[in-house]
Amino acid sequence: MDRIEKLCSYLDKCTTFADVGCDHGYCTRYMLKNGLCEAAVISDISAKCLQKAETLLADYVKCGTVKAVCCNGLEGVNEDTGQVLIAGMGGEEIVSIFKNSFIPQNFVLQPMKNTRAVREYLLQNGAQISVDEPFESGGKFYFVIKGKRSGNSNKYAESQLEYGLNLSGEITKKYVRTELTKKRAYLERDLKDETRLKIEEEISFMEGVLNED
Ligand SMILES: C[S@@+](CC[C@H](N)C(=O)[O-])C[C@H]1O[C@@H](n2cnc3c(N)ncnc32)[C@H](O)[C@@H]1O
Repeated sequence: MDRIEKLCSYLDKCTTFADVGCDHGYCTRYMLKNGLCEAAVISDISAKCLQKAETLLADYVKCGTVKAVCCNGLEGVNEDTGQVLIAGMGGEEIVSIFKNSFIPQNFVLQPMKNTRAVREYLLQNGAQISVDEPFESGGKFYFVIKGKRSGNSNKYAESQLEYGLNLSGEITKKYVRTELTKKRAYLERDLKDETRLKIEEEISFMEGVLNED
C-alpha cells in the first residue's frame, strides 16, 4: 500500500475537511471521491504546489465544494473545520503552525521527522491523542498521530514520547529494530568517547522498549 493510501485510511467522515500543505491534493480527492466530506479547503504555502491540487480538483473548485487558499499553515482555515490533515512536513513545522494558529478540532498528522516535538506540544496543550503509531510503506516508516483538540487524558511514558502509543504493535517493534540496527552499525565507526556513550545509552533504551510488553 502506498503512503497516501495508508494515510487516507486514518481519515474519518466529516462535514468539512482541510488539507494543509496539500501539494498535489491526493488526500482531498480521496475524501471527496469516497463521500467522506461535504466541503474541503486545500491550502499550501507555495502557490506552485497549490496549483497542482487546484488542477487535480478543478471540477470541485469550480462548483465551490473545494476552496483553495495559498497561506502559511492554518491561517486560511476556519477553526471550526471538522477534520484537518497535515502530512508530509517536519514535526517542528507542524508545531509552528499550531503555535501561530490553533490545534484543530480533529486532526490527522503525519510528520516526516521530529515526531516527538509534535507529541510533546499536543500533550502540553490539552489535546487528546487516540492513535499514534508508525506505518510502513515502500520500505520506510511514517508516524501518524490522530486526535482531538481537547480532552487530554493521555499519560505518555518516555518510550511512548519516542515511539508512539502502540509500543507492542508489530510495526512499532519492526521500526525500533530497524533503528537499533542502524545505531549498532554506527558504533562500528571511530567515535569520540562521549558520542559512543550516548549511542550505547540509546541502544540500551531501545532494547528496553523491545522488551516491554
Ligand atoms: C512533501 S509535501 C506533502 C504533501 C502532502 N500533504 C502529502 O502528504 O503527500 C509538503 C507540502 O507542505 C507545504 N508546506 C510546507 N510548509 C508549509 C506551511 N507552513 N504551510 C502550508 N504548507 C506548507 C509544501 O509547500 C509542500 O507542498
